[in-house]
Amino acid sequence: MKMTPEYIEEYARRHSKVYESEVLNRLERKTHLEVMRPQMLSGYLQGQFLAFFSRMKKPKRILEIGTYTGYSAICLAQGLAENGILHTIDVNKELEAIATQFIEEAGLVDSIQQHQGDAMTIVPNLDENWDLVFLDADKINYTNYYDLLVPNLKIGAVIVADNVLWHGKVPEGSREKRAAALALFNEKVTNDPRVNNILLPLRDGLMLIEVI
Ligand SMILES: C[S@@+](CC[C@H](N)C(=O)[O-])C[C@H]1O[C@@H](n2cnc3c(N)ncnc32)[C@H](O)[C@@H]1O
Repeated sequence: MKMTPEYIEEYARRHSKVYESEVLNRLERKTHLEVMRPQMLSGYLQGQFLAFFSRMKKPKRILEIGTYTGYSAICLAQGLAENGILHTIDVNKELEAIATQFIEEAGLVDSIQQHQGDAMTIVPNLDENWDLVFLDADKINYTNYYDLLVPNLKIGAVIVADNVLWHGKVPEGSREKRAAALALFNEKVTNDPRVNNILLPLRDGLMLIEVI
């Protein structure tokens, strides 16, 4: 299910004073032409939202779980504070080279550190004080990532979790594995007194979570 009708997305795009670089344009096209499941890429509106949000927050340390071809990492890195670093993790070795190529072309080699492997193993070994986390990998593990991260986040840190509506299946009460896991995740976050949260119905649903 497409959450937003095409004409509304098109209108929103035309009325957003944001800038998608030529590198991001090419990366989106390459992903659609050469990579499996290109719908996983954040795309224009969500990518520009992430860039806008990151610019407002000016994070020193960003963690991204789910690099894919690097699109959202390049967007998020636009807001990094001086000498800030974004760490991004993906389990799929085959995608690493594309992400590396476009991170280089975007001039972000010194700002983005790629990790290859299972994020559940890698995250506990990264000794960083995250300001911003983008959760965009295996949906069934969202609650596990949340449990791993929240106790170590400082007040004001933000987690942005993607796909929390899962094509509308979550609000429909679907029992499909990922929809059910995301429903539990959304409940957990909403009932957690340690955080404030807002679910934006942008693209496939973005949950913004602020540690308080
Ligand atoms: C939706 S895509 C990420 C899209 C990307 N953030 C963007 O917006 O362009 C999800 C990615 O998570 C990765 N992934 C799935 N399970 C993972 C895990 N356990 N650890 C690390 N990465 C994982 C997949 O290989 C896939 O590339």
